[in-house]
Amino acid sequence: MYNYFFLNITVLCNLKMKITYRPEDNNFCLKSIASSKLSNIEIIQICLLKDKNWKFGIKSQLKGFKNNIKKFDLHNLFYIKSKLAGYTLLRKRTCKIQNLKKNTHYLLLDTLIIDKKYRGMKFSNLLMSFNNTIIKQSGFSSFLICKTESVGFYKENNWTKLSNKDFSVIDHRFSSNGMVFNEKENFKKYIFFINS
Ligand SMILES: CC(C)(COP(=O)(O)OP(=O)(O)OC[C@H]1O[C@@H](n2cnc3c(N)ncnc32)[C@H](O)[C@@H]1OP(=O)(O)O)[C@@H](O)C(=O)NCCC(=O)NCCS
Repeated sequence: MYNYFFLNITVLCNLKMKITYRPEDNNFCLKSIASSKLSNIEIIQICLLKDKNWKFGIKSQLKGFKNNIKKFDLHNLFYIKSKLAGYTLLRKRTCKIQNLKKNTHYLLLDTLIIDKKYRGMKFSNLLMSFNNTIIKQSGFSSFLICKTESVGFYKENNWTKLSNKDFSVIDHRFSSNGMVFNEKENFKKYIFFINS
């Protein structure tokens, strides 16, 4: 349904990029911005949106943002009539591939949120389609951890569930499901680092 991204998006540069996509004839806008290019207003908007769902308070959200976000993390922003209505964080992290005996990078899909006001309208599929486009443009594979109830949602959005014997997460408590998108090769064994 939203495959038109692949045709219309303009690539400005790699992970330092700022991509803007504005479909014709409507009030939506999608942007992908590296941390270093985010404005203070955009950071506050992201924290306010997150705080509507995960109520830690705006101060705590801003502190967490400052402490946890790295320069090359990507922030995918979805606007309806200039209002931030959805957000995804793609974090550039390290992954080991056992049979290749080397480290590589991947994008950790960390946060996916649609403002409560706009839920139930399939906007998550629009945002996921944009996320997938950005992941493909970056050239990296992407990985996420999710609850069993959400596996179907990500499968609908073209992600693949990994068998638990085919990967491990070694720097983070993990007991749920791992899923991947844009797998570069059919790796035998993945070892994901969530924090570095
Ligand atoms: C998860 C979230 C982004 C989905 O957005 P939404 O507006 O509620 O859902 P949409 O209207 O876009 O739904 C699109 C489809 O995904 C399904 N879906 C939505 N949330 C789902 C979930 N958590 N698990 C499984 N399927 C889900 C819907 O049923 C719908 O399926 P259909 O096309 O077969 O009817 C939104 O509910 C949210 O921000 N939740 C809080 C943050 C969160 O939990 N994020 C983690 C996501 S795994």
